[in-house]
Amino acid sequence: MLRYVTAGESHGPALVAIVEGLPAGVEIRKESIDAELARRQLGFGRGGRMAIEKDVAEILSGVRFGLSLGSPITLKIDNRDWANWTTTMSIEPVNTEVEDERVTQPRPGHADLSGILKSGQADIRNILERSSARETAARVAAGTIAKILLREFGIEVLSHVVSIGEVAATINELPAPGDLAKIDESPVRCFDAVAEAQMVAIIEDAKKTKDTVGGVFEVLVYGCPPGLGGYTSWEERLDARLARALMGVQAIKGVEIGEGFELAQKRGSQAHDEIYYESERGYYRKTNRAGGIEGGMTNGGVVVARAAMKPIPTLMQPLKTVDIVSKEAVDAVKERSDVCAVPAAAVIGEAVVAFEIAKVLLQKFGGDALVDTKAAHVHYLKRLKT
Ligand SMILES: Cc1cc2nc3c(=O)[nH]c(=O)nc-3n(C[C@H](O)[C@H](O)[C@H](O)COP(=O)(O)O)c2cc1C
Repeated sequence: MLRYVTAGESHGPALVAIVEGLPAGVEIRKESIDAELARRQLGFGRGGRMAIEKDVAEILSGVRFGLSLGSPITLKIDNRDWANWTTTMSIEPVNTEVEDERVTQPRPGHADLSGILKSGQADIRNILERSSARETAARVAAGTIAKILLREFGIEVLSHVVSIGEVAATINELPAPGDLAKIDESPVRCFDAVAEAQMVAIIEDAKKTKDTVGGVFEVLVYGCPPGLGGYTSWEERLDARLARALMGVQAIKGVEIGEGFELAQKRGSQAHDEIYYESERGYYRKTNRAGGIEGGMTNGGVVVARAAMKPIPTLMQPLKTVDIVSKEAVDAVKERSDVCAVPAAAVIGEAVVAFEIAKVLLQKFGGDALVDTKAAHVHYLKRLKT
């Protein structure tokens, strides 16, 4: 089974992702991973740290002469700022004076308070270092491996920002894989130029008023054959898997597939995608309200998943909190932080969605050797035409 695990603290020496279950024979290039890591760092509204980071990946295992071996692939992303954190984040014990520089003021909107209560620790840094969205760099690296695999099967994953704060993009037609370069050029990764300008303005306004904004992004998957995922048990359902993967990204508070919540307000006659057939095309639909998934499986349409991100909780006008030692009311820490990270979250969304699609693809077509997986895919597509 294809799976991954990440490790690493936000200000530790490095982040790591281990990807297990990729078939042998997939062409893996470090440059492709670096390009995706750079995309995660884009976006108008990011804080100071993005300038320090400039993430690059190192491949430590699982690849030989540019091809996957079928063994676990280890990807390491060094934290460029580590030199400034060697004492605070020392792996070896340090003197008590340094240990006493504890973080004792939990930030609302973060894992800080529940994390410390749950784990019985005295320093909130022990929570925030891991709960930070910095970890998503490792997830983007793992997701790139999935994207590379999917491309071998003509499957492309892209994303775009559909709203920031109250500004929503007008979507006349879904962006296609060929539009990705244009989306990446947009400072807010929005496909609608009019909305783009308004989104930039709303982020500037939030910054001016010492506030932050969230938004919604959409991940699109082109080229999935029908039948990926499953209807026989809840765990197999692709819509459920995508929702879990997207909700697993820090600050994501809602996910919908296709028309999602809007469908709840429609009549049945207006909510589904009627089925047609032509000998050349096979089965097809004239609409895609289901977002490419019916009964927990792909139906051959474009997979459309949306995720809503809450506004960043670190504000320059700090929220109220309580010191866990003195129990006194204090202002939460206000450090240089993102004002809006929806464009970056969309890139992370691509990565986690790509990984789930790759999983169900390998489940359907087998995953020891790429040639066998491809042969099974070709055979299946041929069978669907008969
Ligand atoms: C790409 C990205 C960047 C983020 N940047 C920041 C940030 O600079 N400051 C901050 O306070 N929260 C930031 N967050 C949000 C926190 O990670 C998030 O609020 C926290 O994990 C708690 O969210 P949860 O309740 O969904 O777990 C960012 C999230 C993402 C996905």
